[in-house]
Amino acid sequence: MSIHSPAPILADEPVVPTRTATKRTVLMCKPQYFTVVYRINPWMDPALPTDTSLAVAQWQTLYDTYVGLGYDVQLIEPVDGLPDMVYAANGGFVIDNQAYGAKFAHVERQPEGPAYMDWFGANGFDVRVPAQTNEGEGDFLLVGDVILAGTGFRSDSNSHAELSIIAGRPVITLRLINPSFYHLDTAVAVLDDTNIAYLPSAFDAPSLAILAERYPDAIIVTEEDASILGLNSYSDGYNVVIAARAKDFERQLRARGYNPIGVDLSELLLGGGGVKCCTLELRR
Ligand code: ARG
Repeated sequence: MSIHSPAPILADEPVVPTRTATKRTVLMCKPQYFTVVYRINPWMDPALPTDTSLAVAQWQTLYDTYVGLGYDVQLIEPVDGLPDMVYAANGGFVIDNQAYGAKFAHVERQPEGPAYMDWFGANGFDVRVPAQTNEGEGDFLLVGDVILAGTGFRSDSNSHAELSIIAGRPVITLRLINPSFYHLDTAVAVLDDTNIAYLPSAFDAPSLAILAERYPDAIIVTEEDASILGLNSYSDGYNVVIAARAKDFERQLRARGYNPIGVDLSELLLGGGGVKCCTLELRR
């Protein structure tokens, strides 16, 4: 017979924090008219075939995942001729029942701005028509009480000031430098009110210094995971819906007490978007 003494607790043994999920309300748009017929980011190649029914099936899995997590998932009607409308994150930025509308950088997506603003208005949000070019939650990410804001490819930095006044919160400008990570939500994942994950090589040096100072414990993702838009994920504080192929990110999330849930959106990756791009958070 052997006597087991309790394992000693080593001072440097990592303590896995307890995470808390918060039920979310999100807006999504079925990719009924999804295809790639123009090229406004390096992921898009109109010469490659797309499979709209596969896109719909993969999107449906994301939708079902959110419903399964208890989220309130709202839907906006897709519009024929607006193939990128599935990327609902770009439709605006919604906070305190105010919906700051999008003003798209590329002419191909410009009609999406009014389409989303119409939906916000019809659904009881106070619509704030933008004067400055911005692509909504693609470039604006709420972390606790500050808004991280991307610029360099799509959203004009003047929109950061505009949003700061509307939202009454500090907006921190971050400059993106790699065209493959053209929206902030392709280079930063918000995990909860204090934690983020990011890809350092997507940012210029001053922006990196800001990120390192504000988020010293951030998860740093691998280039490999980022290269399949692994950072483009959606967290409720505990459950983090991510690209199924982002294996190292999955491992790091688990080690920190989050619950990663992998979803395959390979078809929507052909348009340069992933989980987060298909998700717009609605904050009443
Ligand atoms: N094809 C779209 C574009 O280039 C993809 C948008 C992805 N959305 C996002 N939130 N990153 O505008």
